Amino acid sequence: MKTLTNIGIAIFASATMVSCFNDKKPNYQYFPNMYEPVSYETYGAYSVFPDEQEAMVPPDNTVPRGYTPYDYENSTAGLERAKAELNSPYEVTEENLATGAQLYTLYCAVCHGDTGDGQGILVKREKFLGIPSYADAGRNIVMGGIYHVQTYGLNAMGSYASQVSEKERWQIAMHVMNLKAALNGEPGILETTKAAQDSIKVLKEKNMEAVTASEVEKK
Ligand code: HEC
Repeated sequence: MKTLTNIGIAIFASATMVSCFNDKKPNYQYFPNMYEPVSYETYGAYSVFPDEQEAMVPPDNTVPRGYTPYDYENSTAGLERAKAELNSPYEVTEENLATGAQLYTLYCAVCHGDTGDGQGILVKREKFLGIPSYADAGRNIVMGGIYHVQTYGLNAMGSYASQVSEKERWQIAMHVMNLKAALNGEPGILETTKAAQDSIKVLKEKNMEAVTASEVEKK
C-alpha cells in the first residue's frame, strides 16, 4: 500500500512539473542580462528614437573611423586631375615595391599581364578585350591615375577599393610605374626617384653655397 502511494505521488509530481513545459516558448532565463542587453540593440525598435528605429543616418559632415576622404570625383575630369596633381604619400622603397608586385600578380595580372603589356591570361583566352598596355603613350599612365582607377574602376575595369587598402593601392601603383618603365626600356622608379632626390640634394647644396657666398660678399 505504501509503495503504491509513493508511486502515485511520483507520477503526480512528474505530471505537474512536465505538463506546464511549452517547447514553443523560450525557457526560464536565469541571467536575463546575458540574453537581453541593457543597451539598445543595433537595428532594434525603441519608441525613444525617431521612427522607432535605433539605426539612424549619421549626422552631416561626419567621417567613418578609418576612412580618409578622397577629393577626386569619379569622372574623366576627376581622373585627369588625379593624374596631374596626385602622388604617393608613401616613399618608393624596395619593400613597398615588393608588396605592390605581389598584390599586382594577385589582382591585376589576369587582365593586364605580368609585364603590364595588356596581355593577361583572360585576354589570351579572349575572355576580356580592350586592355591597354601601360606603355601606351596616349594614356599617360602616372601614379595618381593608377591610384584613381583602382579606387573607382574605369569602364570595364571594376573598383578595387574594397579589396586593397589605400596604402596597398599606392604600393601597386609603384609596381605599375616600374612595369611601364621596363616596357619602355627605362630605368625603374626606385632608381629614378633616387636620382631625382640626389639632384634635388645637389641643387640644395649649390643653393646653400650661393647663399653663403653672397653673405660672405656682403660682409
Ligand atoms: C577584369 C580585367 C581587369 C583587371 C583585373 C584590372 N584591370 Fe585595369 N583596366 C582594364 C580595362 C578594360 C581598362 C581600360 C579601361 C578604359 O579605358 O575603358 C583598364 C585600364 C587600366 C589603367 C589605365 C587607366 C588610364 O589612365 O587610362 C590602369 C592604370 C589600370 N587599368 C590599372 C589596373 C590595376 C592596378 C589593376 C589591379 C588592381 C587592374 N587594372 C585590374 C581591365 C582590368
